[in-house]
Amino acid sequence: MPAISSSAPGKIILCGEHAVVYGQPAIALPITDVQTRCVILAKPNALTQQVLIKDHTFGLDTDLSSLKPEHPIRKTIESVLTELSIDHLPACEVQIHSTIPHSGGLGSSASIAVALTRATANFLGHPLEDIIVNKIAFEIEKLHHRTPSGIDNSVITYAKPVFYMKDTPIELLKLDHPMVLLIADSGIKGSTAKAVELVRKRWKSSPIEYEGFFVEIGGITLKIKRLLQTGDLEEIGELLTYNHQLLKEIGVSLPELDHLVDVAIRSGAYGAKLSGGGLGGNVIALVPPETADQIRSNLLRSGAAHVLVARISPSAGR
Ligand code: PMV
Repeated sequence: MPAISSSAPGKIILCGEHAVVYGQPAIALPITDVQTRCVILAKPNALTQQVLIKDHTFGLDTDLSSLKPEHPIRKTIESVLTELSIDHLPACEVQIHSTIPHSGGLGSSASIAVALTRATANFLGHPLEDIIVNKIAFEIEKLHHRTPSGIDNSVITYAKPVFYMKDTPIELLKLDHPMVLLIADSGIKGSTAKAVELVRKRWKSSPIEYEGFFVEIGGITLKIKRLLQTGDLEEIGELLTYNHQLLKEIGVSLPELDHLVDVAIRSGAYGAKLSGGGLGGNVIALVPPETADQIRSNLLRSGAAHVLVARISPSAGR
């Protein structure tokens, strides 16, 4: 039996994070420059029904049955088996390789869940529909982030830009204009679960103020959605920077993130903001293509650990 493999991209949240947890819309884009690849090799001659897990990113080299029942990898494989009403995986080796930095807001956990779900189902000879892959990946995201909105698993499952609002059908966006985004890693590991918890506490103690922030952020997302069709990058940039100010006010930025946002803007970016949960992780900057390299160098000189240049092409949309 040949090796079965499946890949899934990373992602960034363009706008609307945190507010999306409270029912506001958000927009996320797949980032194909980083990805997870999952390979499953059948071991037909194995003496036992052993399922070996080799996760190169986390240095995991173990038997599936020795993982805790709630371990995301075990849970993902078992969810696929349940979905297909199959009771076990034949002897095999499951390899997971990911180039997506962990805890950086690039969707590493959802990407692993999606790639592993698809590879497992394909290995069993029963490819799953996207809607089912997305459902399984969402359950796995709950193990990682407790109360995720569902945006990460959605954008990664469909590998298309998405306009996402909880409890409404996912809208895949067609981008009509190319965009260049710099993704600058602050080098500080962010915890989405902690950031979401912090916002929840503050929302509980100042509900009116926080509802106001969320509505404002939701309004930014709606405007950006329209501007993505006209390609007015300057206006999109201004709105991204405004979104960052609001994220700062709700308490999920850090001086290091604010600094990278300032550097990007002073270097000529149309706009910049933190992306994802915050309290670390990445800053994204929308930049004119011709100055991308210069702005990237400035970000690296100003403390960014890595800066990825993501060229989002119009064909990225459906
Ligand atoms: O840190 P990330 O990239 O997984 O993004 C989290 C986005 C939040 O809106 C803060 C949480 C969520 O589940 O949508």
